[in-house]
Amino acid sequence: MVSQGQKKMSFLRKAKTKAAIQYNALMIVGVRVFLARRLSHQKLKTADLSGKLAIVTGSNVGLGKATAQYLAEMGATVYMVCRNLEKAEAAKQDILKTVPTASIHLIQLDTSTLENCRKFCEDWAANGGKTIDILFHNAGIGCPPSPDNLFGPDGFEHMYMTNFLSNFVLTHGLERFFAPDASVVMTSSPGVYVAEFSQDFAKQSTKNTMEPGYNYAKSAHPKPANSVVYSSSKHMQLVFAKNLMTKWKAEGKKYVAHAYNPGYADSDFFEKEGVKTAKRKDDLIWWLLTTLKSPLPAAEGCKTGVMVAIDKSKKVTDKAGSLWDRMKWRSSPVDLYSDDFLGRMWDRWCLDTGIEWSMRPQESTVASKASVDESVSEK
Ligand SMILES: NC(=O)c1ccc[n+]([C@@H]2O[C@H](COP(=O)([O-])OP(=O)(O)OC[C@H]3O[C@@H](n4cnc5c(N)ncnc54)[C@H](OP(=O)(O)O)[C@@H]3O)[C@@H](O)[C@H]2O)c1
Repeated sequence: MVSQGQKKMSFLRKAKTKAAIQYNALMIVGVRVFLARRLSHQKLKTADLSGKLAIVTGSNVGLGKATAQYLAEMGATVYMVCRNLEKAEAAKQDILKTVPTASIHLIQLDTSTLENCRKFCEDWAANGGKTIDILFHNAGIGCPPSPDNLFGPDGFEHMYMTNFLSNFVLTHGLERFFAPDASVVMTSSPGVYVAEFSQDFAKQSTKNTMEPGYNYAKSAHPKPANSVVYSSSKHMQLVFAKNLMTKWKAEGKKYVAHAYNPGYADSDFFEKEGVKTAKRKDDLIWWLLTTLKSPLPAAEGCKTGVMVAIDKSKKVTDKAGSLWDRMKWRSSPVDLYSDDFLGRMWDRWCLDTGIEWSMRPQESTVASKASVDESVSEK
């Protein structure tokens, strides 16, 4: 029985969390994004990463390249995992100019299909299965490669696949190579506060459809704004970090997963056609950001991500599974999601990727698959 006192406490706790989320949404989406260039310099502590191995996806430019450079400077062996090896080689040479002793390797990966991501993991195993200390999911896009084709080869909306499902497949496939205290970091976004999922999320198939659970009320018609779809993929990264922590704690593993917000950072991201040419009436967020043109340097934007990847103090690891922004953890709407909803999202990702991966060790994925299928047929 829940007493009146407990009810009151839980009401107060929820109200406090909601107030904290609203405050963070205002600070992060409003103030930090729009005043990016005026924000003070963040102090990044260094660590000795000699003997450690880091993988950074999408590291030939922007935030990923700056991340790879910091990690290399601290002594890590860095695998720059990029879709274009020529661009990656140029970025490597740039980093070597500043860090001549850097140990950098290049691997080609286009994260836009399930098969590429699976193959990357198989190849990692075939090439000796080196132990991974840091896995940085950074590759991302803010619009589909072409406005006429919203869906990739697997039938998933491009941003959902490239920005998020790839994180799921790679983490699953590489987990067996993790060092005991490995860190998984996802480059998320202020979009975490923009996206909202309805409670109907994952009650229908995700293939060849814009997921009906997204909050498209906030988007333009006839199709949702790119920034809204993008925000949903970034929001899922945070849910994934939270779910991974639930899973790993239950399994007694010491890995940590974090999502971080780089803020509004200078990069090629805003040069892509579907972002750069956004019209105010169709996509207010991309229009505002490309009109403002006041981002942080990428080397400043990535600092929080590097910090959570290397800082193994209790202060940081105790807050794993949350969103980090300017070196601090922040409450987000994900804090208010029910276990049922969080589990349903995980089940949907398993179905979409064809991966059997249980979020809770005692429950079988087959059982959880069945429950999602049931809810699909109930509709
Ligand atoms: N800049 C910001 O203000 C901001 C804010 C919040 C979050 N983010 C996130 O930060 C991450 C890095 O973005 P950025 O701002 O540094 O932009 P960027 O300069 O455009 O870098 C994106 C990186 O992702 C790679 N990429 C894109 N699609 C890929 C695919 N299918 N397979 C493999 N790699 C792919 C790009 O490769 P190519 O060079 O070959 O295109 C590039 O290396 C993204 O996840 C983005 O969503 C950025």
